[in-house]
Amino acid sequence: MSDEIIRAENLSKEYVQGDVRVGALQDVSLEVRTGEFIVIVGPSGSGKSTLLNILGGMDVPTSGRVIYAGRDLAELNESELTEYRRSEIGFVFQLYNLMSALTARENVQLATELVSGALDLDEVMEKVGLTDRMEHFPSQMSGGEQQRVAIARALAKNPGVLLCDEPTGALDYETGIRILALLRELNCDYGTTVIIITHNLAVADMGDRMLRMRSGQIVEQRENEEPLPAERIVW
Ligand SMILES: Nc1ncnc2c1ncn2[C@@H]1O[C@H](COP(=O)(O)OP(=O)(O)O)[C@@H](O)[C@H]1O
Ligand SMILES: [Mg+2]
Repeated sequence: MSDEIIRAENLSKEYVQGDVRVGALQDVSLEVRTGEFIVIVGPSGSGKSTLLNILGGMDVPTSGRVIYAGRDLAELNESELTEYRRSEIGFVFQLYNLMSALTARENVQLATELVSGALDLDEVMEKVGLTDRMEHFPSQMSGGEQQRVAIARALAKNPGVLLCDEPTGALDYETGIRILALLRELNCDYGTTVIIITHNLAVADMGDRMLRMRSGQIVEQRENEEPLPAERIVW
């Protein structure tokens, strides 16, 4: 029995626009263990989002493959792939992507209604510290609160993996730290595998493992024997 949840093998991605080819990923391989907290750092344009989108089944590689829980994503048909994105993957984005006409509660409910095995909504809202904001609309909440809703929405589906693309990118320093601490707490409490990508090098110290990307490649990998608590990260 392997405790590996995701294996990416030799992923390459090339975008073609007219005569211009952009190599976004080159031969990226990566193994992610169940329950691991991984931070992927790298400058803007280094291929982080491309990698995350491919792992989440939102984009396909030009070559290479992604194995999730023993299944090659390339072998899933369209409805199986939709099911994969819906049930196995929780996405958290820099700009929250909430539905503005729905309350916090409804935003989370909408996601959980589509899956089986969802977590209890009230429990999740309490976990992310939003019990008294349930009936608020996104426009009535701060950036940090909106990101908490987005995290609740992703978590409540009880996904295998939370994929977070610059989750603190739009937040002030202290709010960002609190969001990172929350992600770590959820990782510990629910055993959810978490992958965070960020251009912020300092965040690397809080991961069980950090990977550094440059020009579409992983150029460094490091296990952190003692990951730093988010509260002790400084940037
Ligand atoms: N849909 C796309 N079409 C064309 N080029 C793209 C597209 N998405 C990303 N790229 C290019 O791929 C490279 C990697 O982008 P990205 O994965 O977004 O990097 P990061 O998230 O690290 O900033 C960049 O050069 C970017 O311009
Ligand atoms: Mg990006």
